[in-house]
Amino acid sequence: MNSRPESAVAPVITIDGPSGSGKGTLSRLLARRLGWHWLDSGALYRLLALAATQDNIALEDVAALVDKAHQLDIRFEESADGEPQIYLSGQRVTDALRTEQCGKVASKVAAIPAVRAALLDRQRAFRQLPGLVADGRDMGTVVFPDADLKIFLDASIEERANRRQKQLKKQGLDISMGDLFQEISARDQRDMNRAVSPLRPAEDAKHIDCSAMTIDEMLETALGFVREKGWVAAG
Ligand code: DC
Repeated sequence: MNSRPESAVAPVITIDGPSGSGKGTLSRLLARRLGWHWLDSGALYRLLALAATQDNIALEDVAALVDKAHQLDIRFEESADGEPQIYLSGQRVTDALRTEQCGKVASKVAAIPAVRAALLDRQRAFRQLPGLVADGRDMGTVVFPDADLKIFLDASIEERANRRQKQLKKQGLDISMGDLFQEISARDQRDMNRAVSPLRPAEDAKHIDCSAMTIDEMLETALGFVREKGWVAAG
């Protein structure tokens, strides 16, 4: 008989994958469905990128970036319509974080080992009862290697460029597919080839290729894995 006491450590579901694969949407829906906490780890890198840009911190100044990472005054909230809102030093920066420029700087700061180390504890602090759904690149490999369920969500570059173009159109921006394709490929290369925490599936991750899936289908596939764990009722 196993006499180990019940662990009070909150369960974690990690959802890793490349930019634009839909893991943000999936992880948010899953967290809501389960009533668990949600970590958008990419937002932390974007917040640091935005703060560094605002304070004119050079990307070569690692000590200043690490300092900034420790000091970031951030708040995540859900607005009345259920949309996540992000605040930096009391200012709402949700839209500013989503720009291509901010994403580009975030990808560069995310390649710096000391920056990643500085953000580790902040990410782990989100692990609270009743559970956490964590969205990122290295959630299952580095930040929560003991996660209870690891999902790797992927989609073709064409499909991701297509989705991004639609998103940008809604914001009144018309960017060509060619430019988006290049931008996304370059970011994938940076994320996959960096020395520290490169983007790769954890060995024990369940893969979902959602190139041809609707959001509902993605959620259903993930819920199938979750049901196997007994966290939601079957059906
Ligand atoms: O998911 P996103 O596009 O918001 O992430 C922004 C950048 O941060 C992206 O270039 C990858 C990086 N990132 C990371 O290196 N590790 C994470 N856990 C999350 C994001």
